[in-house]
Amino acid sequence: MLDIKDSVAVITGGSGGIGKALARAWMDNGGKVVIADLFQEELEKAKEELGPSGVRSMACDVTKEEDCAALASFAVENFGKINMVAPFAGIIKDGLMLSPDRETGKIKRKMALDDFRKVIDINLTGVFLTVRECVEQMVNHDCRGLVCLVSSTGSLGTAGQVNYSSTKAAMNVIPKVLTAEFFRKGLSDRIRCSAIAPGYVGTPMVKGMNRKALDQITSRVPIGRLIEPEEVASLACEMYRNEAMAGDTFFIHGGLRLGSEG
Ligand SMILES: NC(=O)c1ccc[n+]([C@@H]2O[C@H](COP(=O)([O-])OP(=O)(O)OC[C@H]3O[C@@H](n4cnc5c(N)ncnc54)[C@H](O)[C@@H]3O)[C@@H](O)[C@H]2O)c1
Repeated sequence: MLDIKDSVAVITGGSGGIGKALARAWMDNGGKVVIADLFQEELEKAKEELGPSGVRSMACDVTKEEDCAALASFAVENFGKINMVAPFAGIIKDGLMLSPDRETGKIKRKMALDDFRKVIDINLTGVFLTVRECVEQMVNHDCRGLVCLVSSTGSLGTAGQVNYSSTKAAMNVIPKVLTAEFFRKGLSDRIRCSAIAPGYVGTPMVKGMNRKALDQITSRVPIGRLIEPEEVASLACEMYRNEAMAGDTFFIHGGLRLGSEG
């Protein structure tokens, strides 16, 4: 088992819901964090909430290669190592790929290419860049730890999310690819990769939905409520500590019945 005390986590989306909750849980366990997000002002607010010591922040657009390289270097310059990589920056841009008109039956609206690309850029390319740059530093500085991707129950295929679901399905396969690559190169006994797959979590991403949609969602969750960001963060910490948890996706969804619904 690994100990979080004095371990260093790099968290993108660190001023947002799940990212900030992980930063807090990590620090509560004696760890140090580098939080990264788009806007310095939001990062400063998050830093204030988290407390002055043991936290550094950096504005970073995860779609930019140079930003991700700078983030990984910044973590090592400040804390000497990286133990946990949590590329949690993510967005949704929901909509049906094709929407026919009720009266004519002809297609009235299509998902915009920009709405598709933007989600792929941040949720997939951004994760690739963050992980590639941070793991390079981990290998070069002999670090031990976990790359913890964030998938979703949406990875099983949610209508209205062809863009988002595709990126989250990728988060289920990347742990298998990287674990195999690290194994081949003799790195897998010290660097693991897994994914956490939450159901509906009470963060701005979900709370921004309209009341009716939210009520519909919670009515389907057996525990009768949204998952708390702190509950997701707690599982991510356990996934770090427990080295037997490797190379797979671990769901946390309050008992949702998973599978195709159409
Ligand atoms: N909330 C949920 O129900 C839920 C469920 C499953 C998975 N997830 C995933 O968890 C992760 C965090 O989601 P959340 O609910 O905390 O969302 P959130 O919107 O509260 O936080 C996401 C953060 O990512 C940041 N971000 C967006 N684009 C960025 C970019 N280009 N570079 C750097 N940062 C960027 C945002 O500024 C924001 O602070 C996402 O990957 C999301 O897909 C969320």
